[in-house]
Amino acid sequence: MKTYIVGNWKLNFNVGEASIYLHKLLKALPNYRDIDVVVAPSVVALQPLSLQVDRHKLKLAAQNAFYRDYGAFTGEISFTQLRGIVDYCIIGHSERRHIFGEDNKMIAKKMAAAIRNKITPILCIGETESERAFGETADVIRDQLIGGLSEVADDDIEKVIVAYEPVWAISSTKAAKLATPDEISEVVKLIRKTLTEVYGMKAAEKIPVLFGGSVSPANAGAYLTVPGVNGLLIGGSSLILSEFADIIETAKRVKA
Ligand code: PGA
Repeated sequence: MKTYIVGNWKLNFNVGEASIYLHKLLKALPNYRDIDVVVAPSVVALQPLSLQVDRHKLKLAAQNAFYRDYGAFTGEISFTQLRGIVDYCIIGHSERRHIFGEDNKMIAKKMAAAIRNKITPILCIGETESERAFGETADVIRDQLIGGLSEVADDDIEKVIVAYEPVWAISSTKAAKLATPDEISEVVKLIRKTLTEVYGMKAAEKIPVLFGGSVSPANAGAYLTVPGVNGLLIGGSSLILSEFADIIETAKRVKA
């Protein structure tokens, strides 16, 4: 399976800054066959960057989109509009869930809309600090996974990517803590077990599972060697070109 290194820029960089960053990154990146490098800029930068990007080296992701293709939905953008511009879309990020009130039902519709428009959805799931403290991690993970995938047809299930992002490990979270490889391994096993129960082993084995939460050059190697982890979703560290490039290099080394 490929390794996925995905940079989530969140609400950072204007179009000019994004373009300069991308220019430098493309220059520094060789063409890795087994590693998909992806960045998710702010939506205003997507269209211009799509003209600049060399898709053999790097692909674009959206950070969010609405599930209807067109209509009276002021302020929204659709997967139909993103079609041809991005290859991936992050869906159900914890900031969407917790700041913008997205629930599993809405996220499920977005997953289906992405697939309908030939965009690979990256479904983010993860428990909060208090859910973990109350022993609810397994229930939350199963609920977000099964709920988020509920509108994806069985035939399409191999088109999704899942990202485990414990909310308490995300760098912008108050008092963020680093997840240990053991903690990640336990949840990744649960994700695969749940996928196997619902979709069968053959399909479950083909779904990439990424980890995200304060990933940096210092811990990327350890996280990438957790059994069952197929890549990383990186926030803060992806904003610093040298760190992001370093993580890509680490992925190459781990792969070799
Ligand atoms: P972080 O963000 O790497 O800054 O913790 C990850 C994410 O929110 O996707």
